[in-house]
Amino acid sequence: DWHMDSFVEESIKAIREKVGDGKVLCALSGGVDSSVAAVMLSKAVGNQLTCVFVDHGLLRKNEGDEVEAVFGPDGPYDLNFIRVNAQERFYAKLKGVEEPERKRKIIGEEFIRVFEEEAKKIGAVDFLVQGTIYPDVVESGVGGESTVIKSHHNVGGLPDYVDFKEIIEPLRNLFKDEVRKAGLELGIPEYLVFRQPFPGPGLGIRIIGEVTAEKVKMVQDADAIWREEIDKAGIAHEIGQYFAALTNMRSVGVMGDERTYDYAIALRAVTTTDFMTAESAEIPWDVIGKTTSRIVNEVKHINRVMYDCTGKPPATIEFE
Ligand code: XMP
Repeated sequence: DWHMDSFVEESIKAIREKVGDGKVLCALSGGVDSSVAAVMLSKAVGNQLTCVFVDHGLLRKNEGDEVEAVFGPDGPYDLNFIRVNAQERFYAKLKGVEEPERKRKIIGEEFIRVFEEEAKKIGAVDFLVQGTIYPDVVESGVGGESTVIKSHHNVGGLPDYVDFKEIIEPLRNLFKDEVRKAGLELGIPEYLVFRQPFPGPGLGIRIIGEVTAEKVKMVQDADAIWREEIDKAGIAHEIGQYFAALTNMRSVGVMGDERTYDYAIALRAVTTTDFMTAESAEIPWDVIGKTTSRIVNEVKHINRVMYDCTGKPPATIEFE
C-alpha cells in the first residue's frame, strides 16, 4: 500500500543521507515541479540549499512578485531564495528577432547563462536539484524518430553548465498528479500546486514576432483580464489551459471620432487530457464578451480581440 505521506517522509530521509553536509543548488521557476522539489529539499537539508529564481521578464502579470512572496525571505520556507531580475538582458537579446525557434533558443540559452553566473557567485556546489518528473524521463529517453515541433525549454537542461558533483531528482518516479499530491503533503498552497502549465520561454512565445517590453505589458494585462474573467465565471477547472496571446497583426478601428491602427489580442482556451491533442473550449459568450470589452478599454494599443477556435492539431496550444 503506497501512501504519499510516507513517500514524502522517506524521500526527505534519503535526500538527507545522500547530501550529508553538502551544498545544494536549485533553479526555481515557481512552476509545480520545481516548487515541490525545492520545498522537499529545504525540508531535508535546510540552510544547505540555495534556490535561484530567474525573472526573465516574460512571466505573467505580477508573477515574479508572487513567486517571491511564497519562496522569498518573507514566506514560510527557508531556502535561501535569490531572485535575479534579468528582464533587460532578455529583451536586449530578443531585439529584432522574429523567428519562433530562434526566440526559443535565445531565451533558453540566456536563461542558462544567467543561472550559471549566479551559480558562480555561490561557489562550488555538491548537488544540483532538478524537478524532472516521470513523463520527462520517458519523453527524453526513447524514440529519436519523432519530429521536433518545438524545442522545449524547461528549467531542466542545465547540468552541463554548472559545476556540481551529482544531480538530485526527487520527483523522477512521479506522475503529475502525484507531484501535486506531494506538494499538498508538503504544505504548498493549493493555487501553486494546481497551476496550469506555463512554458519555459513564457510570454516570449505568446507574442508573435518581435518581443518588446511594451508588447510584454500588453499581453500581460490582457492575459490577466482573461484569467480573471474565467475565474469569476467559475469555469477554470473545466479548462486545461487558457491565456492571451498578442498577434502581430494591426488593424483599423475607431475610438470616439479617432481612427486607430492597433494590435489584436487572441484569446486561447483549450480542453485536453494530455496536451498532445486539444480542443478549443466552448466558453460562454458573455465571458468572452466581458473580457473583450475590458481588454479594449483597459489595455492600451489593443483595438480588436479574437477567440481562437482551432484544435490541436492542426494548431498547437501555444502560438509559437
Ligand atoms: P504546444 O504549443 O506544443 O504545447 O501544443 C503543449 C504544452 O506544452 C507547453 N509548452 C512548453 N512547456 N517548455 C515547457 O515547459 C516549453 O518550451 C514549452 N512549449 C510549450 C504548452 O504550454 C502546453 O501546455
